[in-house]
Amino acid sequence: DIPSLAKVYQGYFLIGAAVNPATIKSQSELIEKHFTSITAENQMKFEQLHPEEDRYTFDVADNMVAYAKGQGKQVRGHTLVWHNQTSDWIFQDKDGQEVTREVLLQRMKSHITTVMQHYKGDIYAWDVVNEAIADNGPELLRESKWLSIIGEDFIEKAFQYAHEADPGAQLFYNDYNESDPEKSQKIYTLVKRLIDNGVPIHGIGLQAHWNLYHPPLADIKQAIERYASLGLKLHITEMDVSVYSHGDKRTDVTEQSEEMKALQADRYEQFFTLFREYKDAIDSVTFWGVADDYTWLDHFPVRGRKNWPFVFDANHQPKDSFWKIVKFK
Ligand code: G3I
Repeated sequence: DIPSLAKVYQGYFLIGAAVNPATIKSQSELIEKHFTSITAENQMKFEQLHPEEDRYTFDVADNMVAYAKGQGKQVRGHTLVWHNQTSDWIFQDKDGQEVTREVLLQRMKSHITTVMQHYKGDIYAWDVVNEAIADNGPELLRESKWLSIIGEDFIEKAFQYAHEADPGAQLFYNDYNESDPEKSQKIYTLVKRLIDNGVPIHGIGLQAHWNLYHPPLADIKQAIERYASLGLKLHITEMDVSVYSHGDKRTDVTEQSEEMKALQADRYEQFFTLFREYKDAIDSVTFWGVADDYTWLDHFPVRGRKNWPFVFDANHQPKDSFWKIVKFK
């Protein structure tokens, strides 16, 4: 019998997984045994919950929350304000003209309030703003409709509305490439500015979409220290360890080689050793999936190319990566 990941990490941090209605069925045994927190992979995003101004579609997400409650698991909410998977209607009036700042703020507030109050008491932490920082270049913020229509303060407004909607919820800023030295400096700058302005923000989400070679461990450590120095909670929110490096466009790899497995196990061991070292700051570590039979990376960046990013294989058996992260005491 193998140990439960969540039990091994009791006293350190919650262990979470992104799930969807299909994986809740196909991976239920692993989910129930190893994870104490779940995140809806897509089902709480704007376009899924709010397809038209006067219509909310909570059913699918409600079922996921009911499942989590039935299993005694925590739920992280993902996500309220993002440039992606957001219905176009929010940025336009009935004639297709772009709305004004006032209208968009009102709509943003209405969305945040409705969704957060709907899940009050059931969702303990929310990714309020997702991926608002520019990856490269001198600009702090990424171009988006939120930014161009509202202005830079769309971020602080989102946090204020979220706090008013559910004062008990922990509010997170969440981003990827979070360990890149240049981008982590920008994330730090943004969040520090929010804190200095008295904006209600409680944590930073490090997505942790990493691979066998990148980012270097030293960059991850530096980013964690930088964020932790702000005194906020840190959540690892979307962890996976792709077997391909960024530029690798191969499509002829049909199984995870022994070399890939060994490298991945070493990487997982290093990552979790680091997380344990920073357990006072890190409250939660969520994988962006459960086992290698299903991952968004099978369709990104190359559609239909298999990837094996998790610690459980496609047959739901523990990989070397699993054993490396549970054997440390
Ligand atoms: O719903 C349609 C379905 O009707 C259609 O048949 C199918 C055909 O491809 O597509 C389905 O939509 C897909 C959707 O996931 C739901 O499965 C989209 O094509 C696909 O692009 C979308 O991908 C999601 C991605 O976010 C989109 O932004 C991934 O599942 C999801 O894992 C991923 O998650 C994001 C986090 O939210 C934020 N951080 C990065 C992370 C990975 O990209």
